[in-house]
Amino acid sequence: MSTKKNLPIGVFDSGVGGLTVTRAITELLPHEQIIYLGDTARVPYGNRGADTVRRYALNASKLLINEGIKALVIACNTATAHGLEALKHAYPNIPIIGVISPVSREAVMRTERGAVAIIGTRGTISSKCYPAEIQNLLTQLNLDKTIALEQIACPLFVPLAEEGWLQGEVPEKVAMSYLEPLKKTSVDTLILGCTHYPMLRDTIAVTLDSIMPHHVTLLDCAQSTSRDLAGVLSELDLARDTTSQPLPTKERIRFLVTDEPSGFMTTAIRFFGGPIQRPEHVNIIMEDDTNADL
Ligand code: DGL
Repeated sequence: MSTKKNLPIGVFDSGVGGLTVTRAITELLPHEQIIYLGDTARVPYGNRGADTVRRYALNASKLLINEGIKALVIACNTATAHGLEALKHAYPNIPIIGVISPVSREAVMRTERGAVAIIGTRGTISSKCYPAEIQNLLTQLNLDKTIALEQIACPLFVPLAEEGWLQGEVPEKVAMSYLEPLKKTSVDTLILGCTHYPMLRDTIAVTLDSIMPHHVTLLDCAQSTSRDLAGVLSELDLARDTTSQPLPTKERIRFLVTDEPSGFMTTAIRFFGGPIQRPEHVNIIMEDDTNADL
């Protein structure tokens, strides 16, 4: 019987970063199928203006929704920052999960010193969506806690992660120059607020160890977003039947890219951490510019 439950989950990012989230989804929800869209023709989103990113997010979502999906994960902080509200408005009948709220909740609960740092793209940091979300959560959860926030844009981390320059002198110098201002703070929790940054986790951790007098916990969006997705699917009775044997991971994800597929595989395998199916090329839908003012 073909029901809505059996439809795949749609996941999109500007390129490969969302694969760090996709990996976590496949691990937590081994019976689910995924269609992953990498908007590789228009990457990076991180340095673009809010309206442009919102329009790109609407285009990417429309493409996935036309493929037939039961839920949508925006596996990109920049697209979540600029596009989440517009997408929820445009598609009220499909659950849409962004990456900012789940990891913010985790940070609010985890910080002991009441000091959290957020690193992300220029777009994510300038949107101030993390401070707004953390403030909302403090109110919503009725927590008698104040949290000092530090925000740092780290635009060079995206090309370093894509090029595979993850360790050594260059990434260490870049990390030091971005993160050094934190040594004057009591930050004990740092949100990797870009889905590319988990690739640089070791270098970021070593840098923080060398400048901070106490341990700093690094949080990425992958696990918390997958847990939220699992919760939403079960709440809406949209989770697939888990009694049968799950398919191998590689067979559960279909990949779509908006630029030429060649070149995607090597980087994608690194970000995903395992073999993937060959991506299919798709043309992004541009006609919903009418939605650009949402
Ligand atoms: N992975 C995207 C994010 O989480 C950023 C990459 C880009 O600049 O396109 O914000």
